[in-house]
Amino acid sequence: MQYIYKQSSQHYVKIGTGPKTILLLHGFLESSRMWQFFMNHFYPSYQTLAPDLLGHGSSEGIGYVYHMEDMAAAVNSLLEVEKIPKVSIIGHSMGGYVALAFAEMFPDKVAQVILLNSTPQADSSERKLNRDRAIELVKKNKDAFIRMSIANLLAEKNRERYFDELESLKEEALPMTAQQVVASLEGMKIRKNRVQFWKEISVPKMIIAGREDPIIPLDEIQKIADQTTTPLRVMDGGHLSYIEDRENLIKVLSKELI
Ligand code: MLT
Repeated sequence: MQYIYKQSSQHYVKIGTGPKTILLLHGFLESSRMWQFFMNHFYPSYQTLAPDLLGHGSSEGIGYVYHMEDMAAAVNSLLEVEKIPKVSIIGHSMGGYVALAFAEMFPDKVAQVILLNSTPQADSSERKLNRDRAIELVKKNKDAFIRMSIANLLAEKNRERYFDELESLKEEALPMTAQQVVASLEGMKIRKNRVQFWKEISVPKMIIAGREDPIIPLDEIQKIADQTTTPLRVMDGGHLSYIEDRENLIKVLSKELI
């Protein structure tokens, strides 16, 4: 389905009906397709809504930097179009950064926030430097960057086992333009630190982490969870818990979603 945000065409998927809506926000280089399995699982009890964020999947991008707040504002337009007053949000990685921006900008529209393989922390200075290196690589060889980044998301032990899943993620991300990839990297690089906001958020919250996540290391996210009194659930595998520990993830979400 399509809606228009600032004169750009935005794509989303909606499954199910019902008084409660789960808003599913994908990560960098991903799209609403990552949630297909969850949407099919949860739709008898919930309405599920999964947008393609700016410049991802079938959604157009706007400008040279996709700020997390721009992505959140686009998501808000979607809720307005769909006349949905309140949502429980699950945000995967970059989608978690967008969920945090959304919760800060539109607090009355949020019933619950679950960060999946994500963090309220801003990029460290080392990570910012890595983003700059990544941006240079994208400008030189975008396809090589996409292939390498996606392969590095899984725990090492899982790379062969989920070879097909990785290939289809790569196929899906390769049509992104270098400008779209760079705009997301720039947006993530300058995102706000929302640790204090997360600590004080008044709705139910949770962090779900991957034991061997190469992007959001477990020891770091454990500290943030302690510091912000956030319940933490640890999944097997790396950054893609929705692939690497799917059954367990569904079990946790079935219990925790309000
Ligand atoms: C993602 O999976 O969305 C990104 O790897 C997150 C990040 O780079 O910070």
